[in-house]
Order: sequence, then C-alpha cells, then structure tokens
Amino acid sequence: MVKICCLGAGYVGGPTMAVIALKCPAIEVVVVDISVPRITAWNSDQLPIYEPGLDDVVKQCRGRNLFFSTDIEKHVTEADIIFVSVNTPTKARGLGAGKAADLTYWESAARMIADVSKSDKIVVEKSTVPVKTAEAIEKILTHNSNGINFQILSNPEFLAEGTAIQDLFNPDRVLIGGRETPEGRRAVQKLKEVYAHWVPEDRILTTNLWSAELSKLAANAFLAQRISSVNAISALCEATGADVTEVAYAVGRDSRIGPKFLNASVGFGGSCFQKDILNLVYICECNGLPEVANYWKQVIKINDYQKSRFVNRVVSSMFNTVSGKKIAVLGFAFKKDTGDTRETPAIDVCKGLLGDKAAISIYDPQVTEDQIQRDLALSKFDWDHPAHLQPMSPTTVKQVTVSWDAYEATRGAHGICILTEWDEFKALDYQKIYDSMQKPAFVFDGRNIVDAAKLRDIGFIVYSIGKPL
Ligand code: NAD
Ligand code: UGA
Repeated sequence: MVKICCLGAGYVGGPTMAVIALKCPAIEVVVVDISVPRITAWNSDQLPIYEPGLDDVVKQCRGRNLFFSTDIEKHVTEADIIFVSVNTPTKARGLGAGKAADLTYWESAARMIADVSKSDKIVVEKSTVPVKTAEAIEKILTHNSNGINFQILSNPEFLAEGTAIQDLFNPDRVLIGGRETPEGRRAVQKLKEVYAHWVPEDRILTTNLWSAELSKLAANAFLAQRISSVNAISALCEATGADVTEVAYAVGRDSRIGPKFLNASVGFGGSCFQKDILNLVYICECNGLPEVANYWKQVIKINDYQKSRFVNRVVSSMFNTVSGKKIAVLGFAFKKDTGDTRETPAIDVCKGLLGDKAAISIYDPQVTEDQIQRDLALSKFDWDHPAHLQPMSPTTVKQVTVSWDAYEATRGAHGICILTEWDEFKALDYQKIYDSMQKPAFVFDGRNIVDAAKLRDIGFIVYSIGKPL
C-alpha cells in the first residue's frame, strides 16, 4: 500500500487529501498539522473549513484510508510520498517584507522531514512557492539526508475556495514538475499514477520543476489581472455612462478572451492573489527585471484603488460624512460559499469606513464575530503569522457589531454595503429592509447582485460597480 502524508491540514491540504483518499481506496492518506485544534476539528463533525461537498467526502473515507493526526514525525517516517501544504504568507518583517514569500513554515517542515526520514521519499511542493524553491528544499534535504534519496516534485494546486471539491474532482489540469533525471522521471510517474485514478491522462501535464513552480504564480497573476482589468474599466464606465456588465459580456464573447472571471467587484480578495503577485514582483526585482515587476504591481494597485474608490463613493454620496451613521455590511468572506476572510476586501472597506467614524453592523452567514474582530484588529500582512498577532484595538471593536441576520444588521441603518455575493442577499425582502432604515436609504452593491431598478422603485438610492446611476 502506498502511504501518503500531507503536512498542513488547511484549505488545500484537507480537501485535496480527502479527494485523493476518496478516489484511491488503496492508498493510505494521513493529514498532519502542528495545530491541535485544527486536527481535532478535522476529526469531529464540525470540520475546520466550510466548503460545499467536503463533509460528504470526509465522511466517506475518514477512518477508512483517510486520517488526521498531530503525530507528524510518525506519519512522515512511514510515508512514501509527502505533500507539503503549509502556509507561505508574505513576509511581514525583514528582507523583502511586504513582498517576498515567508518560507519559515516550509523550511521547518523540510528540516523535520530530513531529521526523521529513514527511507527514500518523494517530497511534493503543494504550497505555492517562489520559483526555484525546490532547489533550496533539495539543499536542506540532501545536506541532512544520511544517505536517503529525496526526490522533490512541484505539484501546485489550482482549486478555488467555494468550489474546491468540484475543482478537485474535475480539474482543468494537474501539473507535475520534476527533475529531468531517471529518478526524477520515476518520481513524476509515481505521482502521476495517483492522479490517474480519476484525472484523464491528457489533463496531467508534466514539466520541469521551475516551469511548474512559475506556472502557479503566473496563473494566479493572469486571473487577478483579468479582475483588475475589468475593475479598471468599471471606473471608466461610471465616468461615461457605459455599463460594465454589458461591456464585459461584449468583450468576453470574443472566444480568444472568453466569458469567465470578468465580474467587476469591490476588488479581489483571498489568501493568494495579492500574496502571489507580490511574490512574483519580488522575484522579478531580484532577477533585475524592474519593468516586469512594475507591470504586475499595477494589478495590485488597481485592486487597492477599487477598494478605496468604493469607500470614497460611500462617504461622498452620504453627504461627505458617515460619522456616527450606521452602515450595514452584508458579507465579510472574500467570496461566497466560504467562511474564509483572508485578505477579504471587506477588511479594507470596513477599515476605511471606521476611519470616517461610521458605526458598522456586519452580517455574514459563515463568518463568526471573533473572526471579524480579529481581522479588523490585525495589521496588513500579519494575518498569516500567528507569532505576530497583535492585541485588538478596543476602539475598533466598539464601532463594530456583528449580527446573525441581515434584517437585524440593516435595521436603523443609513446605508448598506454588499461586499460578498452570497445568494441569500439576492432573495432578501428589500421592502422590509427599506422600511426599517433611516432615509434616504442607500445601497452600495460591491458585487452587482441586486436588481438596482427594483430597489430604486422601492425608494433606495443605489450605487453599483461600473453602472450608470
Ligand atoms: P492554511 O493556512 O489554511 O493551511 C496551512 C496549514 O499548515 C495550517 O493549518 C498550519 O498550521 C500548517 N502548518 C504550518 N507549518 C506546519 C508544519 N511545519 N507542519 C505541519 N503543519 C504545518 O493555508 P492554505 O490556504 O491551505 O494554503 C496552503 C498553501 O497552498 C499556500 O502556499 C497557498 O498559497 C497554497 N494554495 C492555497 C489555495 C487556497 O485556496 N487556499 C489554493 C491553491 C494554493
Ligand atoms: C484563486 C484561483 O481562482 C485558484 O485557481 C487558485 O488555486 C487560488 O486562488 C489560490 O492559489 O489560492 P480563490 O482565491 O479561492 O482561488 O477564489 P477566486 O474564485 O479566484 O476569487 C478570488 C477573488 O476574486 C474573490 O474575492 C472573488 O470575489 C474575486 N473575483 C473573482 C472577482 O472580483 N471577479 C471575478 O470575476 C472573479
């Protein structure tokens, strides 16, 4: 029986390994983590992450060939293939702070693998890492190896949150990069055989290590660039009377461009787009390519601009002040169908409104009050560095309340900001909401999900992204 161990039971490690276990009953998969609460949750009925379809997959194979454990060394020692799916956040301090990837977690995982291994291993980079990381990992492993052979593979993950299970069941492609040596090719083949249990052969791409590492950063940069492109056009739509939905549709009908990923929004969020582009920018700078670095930097700049443009729009249309006014925020997660708030645009929007002394009342169906208050109290780039967690600022907390119901959150509010495209926000009784609000009642739709004309008929003043008033 092939044994797989995955270091990191997060948004990637958990779902990916659960699907491998489901599709490969003859493989034993153990997911390990340094976080005891996370592993406890994976072994309970309340999984640590919300992802449609995940419960079902875990229920089918947990205890059969899928296990979650904190006994890291034991399972690493026993494994043939070790996936490393630990966090690789942006460095918050020191050389490259605010751009470079922080590989502390990766390096400590690699050193531990070297320390405890007693047989040959395939070590798979699942985390998103700077191009050439495999070289560093190889050095750490081989210099500490005691004669054991380690083959490093790059197998980046392309799943999106909210659709992770669907994406894993039916991936556009699986990418495996390895050394172009006989041992390297054998390792690639072994990993290929795992995926071949359910992924058609022509969707399993094999490349050299550096192409695989760079393809992941490039794919995220291209995706984020599409959003910044349509968001840049949304600003021009607002200035000219064009409608960004119509423009995006017309542009996307060109088969060379395609219709997906062209929804204008308050800005992209999530744990990866910004971090991976900053990482790409840093690598370009380190390789003496400032023009290329500046090109990609602009994708982040437009995203920041879009978020501050949204805040400015709220404040300026509410008579240039939101001081003391209740603003209801519907949606805090970075997208629908996830409880993940990492780098959610809601953080920047709320901080912007708090800067203007608004009283904010937040409702999100999947995000807890604790999480929201932690997010609003943290400094930029500190969210994924547990050691740097800072104490919460009491003034921030005081101005924020969290409700478990959209009607409660909007009662008595002067304005509503829709920041996540949860389906339930489309089906709310807006007449009831309007009746309970201060007048004039404003709606700022950061996701273009409500029927603006209908809301205007009720009496709301509605602002959408990239649409005529
Ligand atoms: P996460 O923070 O949810 O999970 C990482 C886990 O690794 C944490 O539970 C942490 O406790 C654990 N960990 C850290 N050091 C460890 C160690 N030495 N041994 C064992 N466990 C350790 O992060 P994530 O969202 O799953 O992302 C992981 C990687 O995958 C990142 O590089 C990210 O860029 C990449 N990625 C993420 C997504 C996504 O949708 N979230 C998609 C594709 C790729
Ligand atoms: C993204 C990529 O889509 C995945 O392929 C990749 O594996 C992952 O990052 C990663 O490396 O972490 P994810 O961040 O989970 O996945 O979700 P997306 O669906 O890409 O959305 C990212 C952000 O862009 C969200 O805030 C979303 O609301 C926003 N978005 C997306 C838009 O504003 N407009 C769009 O048209 C699409």
